[in-house]
Amino acid sequence: MVRYAKRFEQLTSTDIADLLALIAKPDIISFAGGLPAKELFPVEDLKQAGIAVMDEMGVAACQYGSTDGVLPLREKIAARMKAKNNIDTTAENILITSGSQQGLDFAARVFIDEGDVILVESPTYLGAINAFKACEPKFIEVPTDDDGMIPEELEKILATTENIKMIYVIPDFQNPTGRTWSLERRHAFMKLVNEYEIPVMEDNPYGELRFENENMPALKSLDTKGLVAFLGTFSKIMVPGFRLGWVCADKEMLDRFNTIKQGADLQTASLTQLQADKFMDMYDLDAHVAKIQEVYKHRRDVMLAAMKEYFPEEVKFTYPDGGLFTWVELPDYISSREMAPQCIAKKVAYVPGASFFPNGGKDNCFRMNYSCMPDDKIIEGVKALGEVIKANLK
Ligand SMILES: Cc1ncc(COP(=O)(O)O)c(C=O)c1O
Repeated sequence: MVRYAKRFEQLTSTDIADLLALIAKPDIISFAGGLPAKELFPVEDLKQAGIAVMDEMGVAACQYGSTDGVLPLREKIAARMKAKNNIDTTAENILITSGSQQGLDFAARVFIDEGDVILVESPTYLGAINAFKACEPKFIEVPTDDDGMIPEELEKILATTENIKMIYVIPDFQNPTGRTWSLERRHAFMKLVNEYEIPVMEDNPYGELRFENENMPALKSLDTKGLVAFLGTFSKIMVPGFRLGWVCADKEMLDRFNTIKQGADLQTASLTQLQADKFMDMYDLDAHVAKIQEVYKHRRDVMLAAMKEYFPEEVKFTYPDGGLFTWVELPDYISSREMAPQCIAKKVAYVPGASFFPNGGKDNCFRMNYSCMPDDKIIEGVKALGEVIKANLK
């Protein structure tokens, strides 16, 4: 009999995978995925950038490159992080990864031995939970509210728990809740982190997709002790298929990520790195991001207005200032998992909330994505959901 690694005891296939397979059917209105809107992909411009790369540096695009990644791309990322996140950094502190998902996988391998503790927001990104589980950690969920992680709760846990090796957070337009941490919470969090000296993985795939209100400073921009690693990505501002992300961290920490990357895949593909870099030379990425913001803002407005109209008033949901998701909370006695098949029968899907809690829990919530559906489908889908919810009310 084949014997597989013990880590699979934690890494069972989730029912979310089954759900995603079911909703791949074309007649389902799916609010379950988190895909960027494909009609906004700059396909023609990327094609021209690709042709220019092959004309001007075809050999480099086909050859192995350094593990760190292509230097001009890292320089552009460093400049962008200064402009967008007020993070003072240089190309030396940037490692290109195959999407920020790879950064999450590496973070666990850099910090976690079996049984070590990872603190996460409750709820948190399902893909991070799965990536971390491969290193067999214990998760402790830190309570959150509309302003982010609650510092008093974090402090209690920090003061009473051994072997906390890392804290994973998504302070901007969080997946799954769409919430953004307040300024006060950011400062309070960093004060505690500095006191207890625990490394922080700040995952920020959505920060540039802000529709309104002021940008909040990245935790990394408030980091005075080199404890924060910032994970960035081109997936939501350019295209996800290129698989381009990065880790920005102080040299000592980044060297560890680099060592893990050498073992994992040597480097991220030379061609897509050069192509993304050339795209930014030839075209205006900021103007492209502005287009994405406009479309997503509109879709958010359509979805929230439809929820207001069609959901019964017992149902609560978040008002995200950016990003891709809103988080819906049903009365306690309704299980979003048990309700999902009733919704799929009406050809509409969401992700049941329990999957976003690593230790299990809150089953009365679900995640809705608004980035990749036209207005009429959003309205039709929300209306159908509203009918199912009403039928489940006591
Ligand atoms: C919070 C969060 N982190 C990381 C990722 C992974 O993104 P990518 O690997 O495409 O950069 C996602 C994808 O949706 C996400 O929502």
